[in-house]
Amino acid sequence: MRALVTGATGFVGPRLLRLLDDPVVLTRNPDRAKESIGTLARRFHAWDPMQGPPPAAAFEGIDTVIHLAGESVAEGRWSAAQKARIRDSRVLGTRHLVQGMTSAAVPPATFVSASAVGYYGDRGEAELTESSPPAKDFLAGVCVEWEAEAMAAEASGVRVVTARTGIVLGAGGGALGRMLTPFKMGAGGPLGNGKQWMPWIHVADLASLYLFAATTTGVRGPLNAVAPNPVRNSEFTKALGKAVGRPALVPVPYFGLRLAFGEFAQVLFHSQRVVPALALEHGFAFRYPTITEALAEIMGASATAA
Ligand SMILES: NC(=O)c1ccc[n+]([C@@H]2O[C@H](COP(=O)([O-])OP(=O)(O)OC[C@H]3O[C@@H](n4cnc5c(N)ncnc54)[C@H](OP(=O)(O)O)[C@@H]3O)[C@@H](O)[C@H]2O)c1
Repeated sequence: MRALVTGATGFVGPRLLRLLDDPVVLTRNPDRAKESIGTLARRFHAWDPMQGPPPAAAFEGIDTVIHLAGESVAEGRWSAAQKARIRDSRVLGTRHLVQGMTSAAVPPATFVSASAVGYYGDRGEAELTESSPPAKDFLAGVCVEWEAEAMAAEASGVRVVTARTGIVLGAGGGALGRMLTPFKMGAGGPLGNGKQWMPWIHVADLASLYLFAATTTGVRGPLNAVAPNPVRNSEFTKALGKAVGRPALVPVPYFGLRLAFGEFAQVLFHSQRVVPALALEHGFAFRYPTITEALAEIMGASATAA
């Protein structure tokens, strides 16, 4: 299988590239990408998702496209301009990518596009499977539009999977990278009352699940890309405190996070009990099914790298 990958230079991308045989990379800046990815890919094409379809040559010999590119939702305050970047980089970017792949001489057989658990919004105790309806907030709206743009490739016979990705945990960055400093200083703690459910996934399982989606013909449409054991925020906090050897007891109030993160802070308090129903139905085996196993591996890897 020959894969074309967008967003390969991000947090998740390099983990995915390692599983692929001679992947091709689409990036806004090939020179910077070559530097950050090193030997994980040999072929690069320049593509700015906002500007139009990728060059036709990028799709030559490609069986599957895996699409991870998009403006980060967790960096920078959500000004109107930042929200437009978050939306447009995904909605227009996916539209342009689909235009490119469906007008290729030979379109790819499969298209795996990232989406996010933000699709479900704030849902309390409800168990959320792929058939649960979307919420109505900003991120849910972005996910609905983003997935619709990806699904449009089906009209050209491409099998499409939209991977509703949870909070990705791994060494060296991502959500955990932002949390580790306060936790190591003993200043970590549950967010609010800590009862909200957190859908998470180990980055290694996520990379394998994207590949599984690309190669398993029965998988199509939305796919919850989360571990089979979501945890309450208080449970996650306790496990992380234990993993770094510092108790994490002091609750973090909403207003503090609102000051630090602006509107994005709301998302940190959302309760999303998302389960990977489709992945389990198709027999996907998670290497890190519980938060304790995931954090043990990640903290071990961080310690080795330090
Ligand atoms: N990490 C998580 O916890 C998480 C959770 C849920 C969903 N997801 C989704 O999974 C995908 C991959 O996540 P990630 O954490 O690896 O992403 P990331 O590190 O934030 O970024 C991935 C890549 O997207 C490209 N990019 C950044 N800003 C862009 C913009 N304004 N316009 C177009 N392209 C832009 C960059 O690639 P180039 O510079 O090479 O073009 C970047 O390396 C994303 O779509 C994200 O929304 C992630």
